[in-house]
This record gives sequence, C-alpha cells and structure tokens, in this order.
Amino acid sequence: MLKSIWFIVNIALLKGCFAETPETYLLKSHSLPPDLNFMPTLGNGHLGYTVFGDAIFMNGVYNGAGGNSKRARIPNWLNISSEVCDRFGCASGEDVEVNGTSYEMDLRDGYFRERTTYRKLGFTVEQRTYTHKFYNRALVYEVVVTRLDSRNTRANAPKFLKLTQYPGNSSDAFDFVLVSNGSSSSGDYRTLRGRTKVLEFEKFQTDPQEIFVLFSQSLEQPLQVQWPTWQEQLSYSIIITMDRDESVARKELQDVLKLSSRTLLQKHTESWNSFWDNEFSIELKGDALELSQIVNAGIFYLVSSLPSINTNQKNEPFYGLSPTGLGRGNLEADYQGHNFWDTEIWMLPVVTQFGLEYAKQVLDYRHRKLEAAKYHANATGYKGARFPWESAYTGTEVTNPCCPEVAQQEIHISPDISFALQRFYSQSLDKEWACNTAWPIAAEVAKFLVSRASCDDSQNMCHFLKVMGPDEDHPDVNDNVYTNAVSKIALDFAEWLGPMCGNTSTELFERWRELSDRLLILQDEVLNYHPQHQGYILNTTVKQADTILLGYPLRFDISSTHLNDLRFYANATRESGPAMTWSMFSANYLVSRQDKLANEYFERGYKSYVRPEFKVWSETPLGYEGSANFLTGIGGFLQTLIFGYGGLDFGRVGDQFSMIIRRTLTPPNVDEIHINSIPYEDAKCSFTIRFQSSEIVCWDRFGPGFQMVQDQRRTFLGRSFNFTHRNEDPPIEISFLR
Ligand SMILES: *[C@@H]1O[C@H](CO)[C@@H](O)[C@H](O)[C@H]1NC(C)=O
Ligand SMILES: *[C@@H]1O[C@H](CO)[C@@H](O)[C@H](O)[C@H]1NC(C)=O
Ligand SMILES: *[C@@H]1O[C@H](CO)[C@@H](O)[C@H](O)[C@H]1NC(C)=O
Ligand SMILES: *[C@@H]1O[C@H](CO)[C@@H](O)[C@H](O)[C@H]1NC(C)=O
Ligand SMILES: *[C@@H]1O[C@H](CO)[C@@H](O)[C@H](O)[C@H]1NC(C)=O
Ligand SMILES: *[C@@H]1O[C@H](CO)[C@@H](O)[C@H](O)[C@H]1NC(C)=O
Ligand SMILES: *[C@@H]1O[C@H](CO)[C@@H](O)[C@H](O)[C@H]1NC(C)=O
Ligand SMILES: *[C@@H]1O[C@H](CO)[C@@H](O)[C@H](O)[C@H]1NC(C)=O
Ligand SMILES: *[C@@H]1O[C@H](CO)[C@@H](O)[C@H](O)[C@H]1NC(C)=O
Repeated sequence: MLKSIWFIVNIALLKGCFAETPETYLLKSHSLPPDLNFMPTLGNGHLGYTVFGDAIFMNGVYNGAGGNSKRARIPNWLNISSEVCDRFGCASGEDVEVNGTSYEMDLRDGYFRERTTYRKLGFTVEQRTYTHKFYNRALVYEVVVTRLDSRNTRANAPKFLKLTQYPGNSSDAFDFVLVSNGSSSSGDYRTLRGRTKVLEFEKFQTDPQEIFVLFSQSLEQPLQVQWPTWQEQLSYSIIITMDRDESVARKELQDVLKLSSRTLLQKHTESWNSFWDNEFSIELKGDALELSQIVNAGIFYLVSSLPSINTNQKNEPFYGLSPTGLGRGNLEADYQGHNFWDTEIWMLPVVTQFGLEYAKQVLDYRHRKLEAAKYHANATGYKGARFPWESAYTGTEVTNPCCPEVAQQEIHISPDISFALQRFYSQSLDKEWACNTAWPIAAEVAKFLVSRASCDDSQNMCHFLKVMGPDEDHPDVNDNVYTNAVSKIALDFAEWLGPMCGNTSTELFERWRELSDRLLILQDEVLNYHPQHQGYILNTTVKQADTILLGYPLRFDISSTHLNDLRFYANATRESGPAMTWSMFSANYLVSRQDKLANEYFERGYKSYVRPEFKVWSETPLGYEGSANFLTGIGGFLQTLIFGYGGLDFGRVGDQFSMIIRRTLTPPNVDEIHINSIPYEDAKCSFTIRFQSSEIVCWDRFGPGFQMVQDQRRTFLGRSFNFTHRNEDPPIEISFLR
C-alpha cells in the first residue's frame, strides 16, 4: 500500500514539471482593478510589494514611535516599465488594440506578468516581476520583446528598449545614502544604505534599523538597451537585492547574476511548483473554476507573506503575519503591518496545513517577544505576560493612538495565543517544541489571567471586568463570553502542559485550575443562549463573529445553547461585518448539520469580498471601503473549507490527542474536494471529500503507525492506511500507537 501512494505522488510531480499552468492557477484580465490596491501582492517572507504600488517592505522593518510604528516604506524600485522605441519615438498605448494587453497572475509559477501585442508595429512586450522564492533577498524585473514576424525585419523596426523606474515618492521612513555608485569598472554595484528615522520604543530598540539595497543596474536615468534589427528576441533583467546585512545582499546579487535569466526564473517556478505539489494544495472538482481560482489565490497570497523554507542564504527571524500581509503596511487600512489576534485565530490554523515549520516560525515571533509581553503586563499593573493587541518590531503595544480602548480592553489576544499553541500541539505532537516554546508562553499568560481576574469569594465566581471582546462595537463590558471561554482553555492548557514538561509548581497549577473553574460563562436560562456580555440585550447589533466562536473554533460549547447563539446572532450581526464572520457561521452550521444555512453563509463569506481581476480579498463587501489583500478573511474562508466542509479536527481529551474525522459535505456546485497534504506529527495525510463520505489516506514512513478509535473500538492501521468514512458513521479518531 505504501508503495502505491508514493507512486501517485511522483506522477503528480512529473506532471507538474512539464504542464502549462492550468486555468485554475492562472488569473488573467484585460483590465486593471479600478482601485490599484487590489493588484496582487507578492512576497517571499523577506520582501513583499503590491504590483504597481509605491512600496516594498522588509520582514520586521518598522519606523515610528509607539502607536505610529508602521512598516518602513522602501520606494518601489521594482516598479519598472519598458517601452520599445526608435529615433522618432516610442510605441504607446495608442498603438495597442482593444484588449491588446493582458495582465496575468500565475499562481502556480509565482509571478505577475503583463503582455502587450503591438500588431501593427509587429512585436510583443512581456514584462514579469516577482520576489524570488529561493533567492529571497532578490526582486526580479524581466522584459522580453519578440518580433511577430522574424523574416520581416522592416526598415522601421524598433531599435531600442527604454526602461523607466516609477518608485513613487521618496521614503519618509528611511534616510538613504549612496554607499557606492556601482561603476562597472570596479565590479561594484550601486548600493544604498537606509536607516529608519524613528525608534519604536527605546527600551527594546536601541538603534535604528539599517538596510542595504543593491541594484544590478542603475535606473536613476531611464536606461536604453539596443535591439538590433536582426535579433528576433531580446530579454533584459533588473535585479534588486536587500538585506539588513550588506554582505548578504551582495552575495545574493552575485549568486543571481551568475545565472541565466531562464535558470533564475526556473529556480523560482520550481520552488513554487514544489510547494503546490509537495506541501499543500486543494483541488475542487465540479463546476467550480472560479471557486478553485479563489482557493488557489487565497493560498498563494497567504504563502507569499510566509518565509520560504528552502533559501539560498539563511533566513532572518520571522516577524509574524499581519492582516494585509508583508507587502502592505504603509496605510492605516493596512493595519500598519502589525500583528493582531488575526495571526493566531484566523490565519495560523490554515498556515499549519502548509507545513508545521511555517506555523513554528509564526509562533516563534510570540516566543521571541515574550519579554516585551512581560514588560507590558507589568507596565499596566499585572503579572505574567500580556501580549499587546498590536505589535510590530519590539513586541510592545503599538496600537494606533486613535483607539486606546482596544489596546486596554481586548485582553483576549493573550489567551488566543495559548489556544493556538494548544491547537498546534494537537497536530504537531512535538513535545520539545511544546516545552521550549509553548510552555513559557502558556505559563506567563496564565499568570496574567490570574492577575487580571476579579474574584468574588462569597459567590465563588471570577470575572473579567471592563473588557472588549472581538465585537469592537461594545467596549467596557464585563464577562465577554468569548474572552472568558478562551481564557478557560488557556488556563486548562497551561495546567496540563506544566507537569508534562516536568514543572512541579503545583501551587501555581491549583491557582490556574481554580480560576478556570470559577470564571463565569454567562447563560440566559430562559432563552437558552449566551448573552455576549453582562447586560447584552437580545437583537442588539454586533460587529462580527464573537459568541458564536464558542462552537468553532473554540469547541467550547456545541450544545443547544450554541445552536441558539447561531440563530440569534445571525440576525444581530452587522451587514458590513468582515468576511470571516460569515465563514464562521458556515463552519458552525456545518458542525450542527444545518447544511442549507452553511452553504448560504459560505457563499456570503467570499462572493462579495473577493475582487474579480486577481481574486484579491477586501476586508469589507463591495461598496464599502476596506483593506486590500485581507489575509484574515482568506484564513476564515479556508478554515471553513478544511475544518467545516472537510469535517477535520485535531483535539485533546484528557491526555489523549487525536485527529478526528467527522461528517463531510461539499459546497454548492462542487462534487469533490481533494486536500493534499495535511501534516500530522511526522506523517502526512490527504483527504478526498465528497458529498456523503470522505476518503482519508495517511502515511507515516518511519513512525510507530496509526490506530483508529471508533465507537470505543480500537483498530490497528499500520504505517499507512486508506480509509473511507461515510457520513452515517460516527466520527473516528486517529492517533499514533505509543
Ligand atoms: C508603477 O508603474 C506603473 C506603470 O508601469 C504606473 O502606472 C504606476 O503609477 C507606477 N506606480 C507608482 C507608485 O508610481
Ligand atoms: C475586451 O474584453 C472585454 C472583457 O473580456 C470584452 O467584454 C470585450 O468584448 C473585449 N473587446 C474586444 C474588442 O475584444
Ligand atoms: C507624493 O508627494 C507629493 C508632494 O509632497 C504629495 O502631494 C503626494 O500626495 C505624495 N504621493 C503619495 C502617494 O504619497
Ligand atoms: C553616479 O553615477 C551616475 C551615472 O551612472 C551619475 O549620473 C551620478 O552623478 C553619480 N552619482 C554620484 C554621487 O557620483
Ligand atoms: C513591576 O515590576 C517592578 C520591578 O520589578 C516591581 O517592583 C513591580 O511590583 C511590578 N509590578 C507589578 C504589578 O507586578
Ligand atoms: C515552573 O514554572 C513556573 C512558571 O513559569 C516557574 O516560575 C517555576 O520556576 C517552574 N518550576 C520548576 C520547578 O520548574
Ligand atoms: C428579537 O427579534 C425577533 C425578530 O427577529 C423578535 O421576535 C424578538 O421579540 C426580539 N427580541 C427582543 C428581546 O427584542
Ligand atoms: C432572523 O431574521 C429572519 C428574517 O428577518 C426571521 O425570519 C427569523 O425569524 C429571525 N430569527 C430570529 C431567531 O430572530
Ligand atoms: C484509496 O482507496 C480508494 C478506493 O478503495 C482508491 O480509489 C484510491 O485510489 C486509494 N487511494 C490511494 C492514494 O491509494
């Protein structure tokens, strides 16, 4: 059985190498989005930019004090445009027929291109840009011009290419100085050194951040490249490399320039193809071309903000995922490139499926910023570690001065992080990581919660007073149910993890247990639902999914009370709510088998949020101003597909961790969803989800093998298995034999 599985994987690989990009991975448009913020955002975890935008951003590089800290804008020197000219002038838009230009985002090969045909003048121009996935300090611009008829080299055939750079205004974040002018005689490259102007918080940042930018070719003045009439095709590349370390940026440029442009592109596309073929993909069968494109684009835009795992030079530490990704962060609408709960609650559950290493690098940011979170707890009068609502370079609070109450009151971010640690452990089962990375965070968060709670001994009850839940329309409330529920999970996890990691502070554990037991979970006995907070009146409008999260993702309450929450809050949620709100209604309706509603909300969760041209997400539905490249919405949408429709779950009951397969469903017009591949500890699984059943294939080459528990019967499955689960069967639990 094992052999046949590997065989299939290999066939897929071979096909990938030689195939044209399938339609499901090719986003093609003859027109640009009316708002250029909805152009594709490309990135590789080190650098990112939005096509045609005015900025390039580098992982972890911010400028500005406290709440004014935002990603430090580097002018978009990659925004280059080529014209074909002769001594009388250059070909212009007027020489292009209607629809003669096509803009394409190739998701499978990982680049953006613009192709223009000048039929009358007899040539085509193709321009490509991308952030290299393997040489990840490098940004690439490439132009290829081709004569349409090689025999007809007319006298008026074009003579040269003119490359012009449009980087936008100079940067207000950096002081740039010219280190070298890149005279070709000395074999040197044009080099700029940039230093950020303002520190974020002196206690945790002593010096400005410094970056080096190297250019293969200066484009300060437009560059002319000769195109002899006898030459059928001409190609020209501009490479820009950037790093905090000048020698790293220099080596990257040298390494890249050793390659032909064809090999350079091939290295990049191979790296992307390998992601889709070996790391993760979702394939939909049925009448689902557009939905497939949205799914693939969603995965692509998320991965673009994550570090490449396999790179030419060692990566720097990763500074986390921001709601609009690495390629944005200059605007208020870009959340200034900060980290929020969006990272752990909305994006991470999907990122984990791409590979455990991606999730580790995301969570590692929180681990590295634990000292800052402890400082923040102390500075605001509490113990333990309090993660700021928004964080950037230093890990201290950087919430925009506009909105101090979210920073003061959205304390749920800290237990959200613990919840994510537990969820990741349930899937990775990595004890070393759990004790080195998760435990220090979980313990400090538990201490914070104890110090933040207000307990009433006479009633044997504890509360969180003056908080704000995910529903930001309601500040200053007591006992937000979501906050209290996720805090219970965080306390229980810390209490479980401590002894597992050999810690013997039983007094601490008892305190955590006691708080968890005594925290109030509001419930209305008459209407049998959870009021969102003390004094919540039924039908009061809320901003977004809040109390309903008790079902999925918290799995804290899936009783009839939760079903009523779904009923009541569905009507009370704002029309203009963010995308993932509707995705969460869908995921929860799937759990409760209300399939019709689940399908309705699933469609509502993406249809009016995704802009048509390049399937870029907006935070708000069409007609409302909202953030572009909204990865948080993508996270909610893909979670619904994988954990809602796919019926998949990883969980803990007591000391027992398992992968759980529940009933499955396919969205409207989709016959089959194939998910390849889900990591489970060191094993891999793939799922084929059909309307009434699912097929699960797992293989664990070197591990102890799997067992299955169904109806309390245990079955040994061996090191690989291929199992069909029908919807009428009870859920199955799969775990490792130990
Ligand atoms: C980027 O270049 C395009 C032309 O290719 C231009 O339309 C756009 O305005 C430029 N962006 C900036 C920020 O200058
Ligand atoms: C250009 O493309 C648009 C959209 O694809 C199409 O509706 C239109 O008919 C095309 N125009 C021409 C002249 O081909
Ligand atoms: C660029 O700078 C000019 C002059 O300072 C200003 O008017 C313009 O708004 C700036 N453009 C952008 C996109 O910031
Ligand atoms: C750098 O070289 C360019 C020509 O390549 C020249 O125009 C410019 O003045 C030089 N700048 C300095 C500071 O030497
Ligand atoms: C904050 O830290 C200082 C110095 O360690 C300590 O004296 C103070 O008690 C701490 N505050 C709280 C609320 O724990
Ligand atoms: C257990 O963990 C607590 C909380 O972080 C820490 O203060 C204590 O030193 C640890 N004790 C032992 C014995 O490891
Ligand atoms: C809430 O709205 C429903 C109709 O949507 C109505 O039947 C009910 O009485 C309202 N409840 C309250 C407390 O206003
Ligand atoms: C929600 O609104 C719909 C349509 O207005 C109504 O039919 C339904 O009864 C309402 N549900 C609740 C629980 O109020
Ligand atoms: C699993 O089994 C099904 C039917 O028994 C078969 O169609 C499918 O090809 C198998 N999958 C793999 C990966 O072996």
